[in-house]
Amino acid sequence: MTPDVTPFFDTATNTVSYVVKDPNGRAACIIDSVLDFDYAAGRTDTKSADTIISHVKQHDLDIQWILETHVHADHLSAAPYLQDALGGKIGIGHNIKLVQDTFGKVFNEGTEFQRDGSQFDQLFEHGDSIMIGQLRVDVLHTPGHTPACLTYVMGDAAFVGDTLFMPDFGTARCDFPGGSAKDLYASIQRILSLPDDTRIFVGHDYKAPGRDEFAWESTVGEQKAKNIHLSQTKAAEDFVEMREARDATLPMPRLIVPSLQVNMRAGHMPEPDQDGDVFLKVPLNKL
Ligand SMILES: [Fe+2]
Repeated sequence: MTPDVTPFFDTATNTVSYVVKDPNGRAACIIDSVLDFDYAAGRTDTKSADTIISHVKQHDLDIQWILETHVHADHLSAAPYLQDALGGKIGIGHNIKLVQDTFGKVFNEGTEFQRDGSQFDQLFEHGDSIMIGQLRVDVLHTPGHTPACLTYVMGDAAFVGDTLFMPDFGTARCDFPGGSAKDLYASIQRILSLPDDTRIFVGHDYKAPGRDEFAWESTVGEQKAKNIHLSQTKAAEDFVEMREARDATLPMPRLIVPSLQVNMRAGHMPEPDQDGDVFLKVPLNKL
């Protein structure tokens, strides 16, 4: 089956969100949405999410799922806002519990912050499958960038989140708490075991040197033949060495502090104070 895939690119965070539709009906899902955030002003905005809502309404889609490939560290999720507007269940990987435990400590969250994934409607495990109309979604656990990362395979399309990027850009970083270059290598092999003509949709694009346009779609065959991080490294150990050396040079993502606090709550803000005001924390010297 070949699902209809509509990408939405956010230039502020280089994130690609997707609306994926059953080709035989109205049923659809949203993957990796963005809540706009002006960090300097501490102000959220729903422009990106409203663009998706307009698309859904214009095409009369029935949103059944709002899926996250992982807890993003570079943008805030708009999942609860989209759910209020469009319905659907919010899903993420089962290992979100590990991520919540790690960052619950980093942000010194009290006992009121549940670390059991209960903020989400569904926690997926490797091998789970769901139906979106007649479109079957197979869930692959593809950890490495984070321990909870998932790839959603829908017909001939795979939504790989932050594992592989475009072939000329390579692969995702593995240096966040709980990340593992060794795990990422194994996860990439799992993705590349799909048929060669499987379409690969990535979670970000940063334009590789020499490329003028943003891009997000390749195939398993193209990734095998051309991914620069895979062609440079023939064995798992070489990949791990390359990935760890590169990660040591990367700065923290600009929005990691607000993103983690919001996304580990399924996109909900922390509880307001007694006056109804909402605050995010900045942990010093922890990340
Ligand atoms: Fe990410």
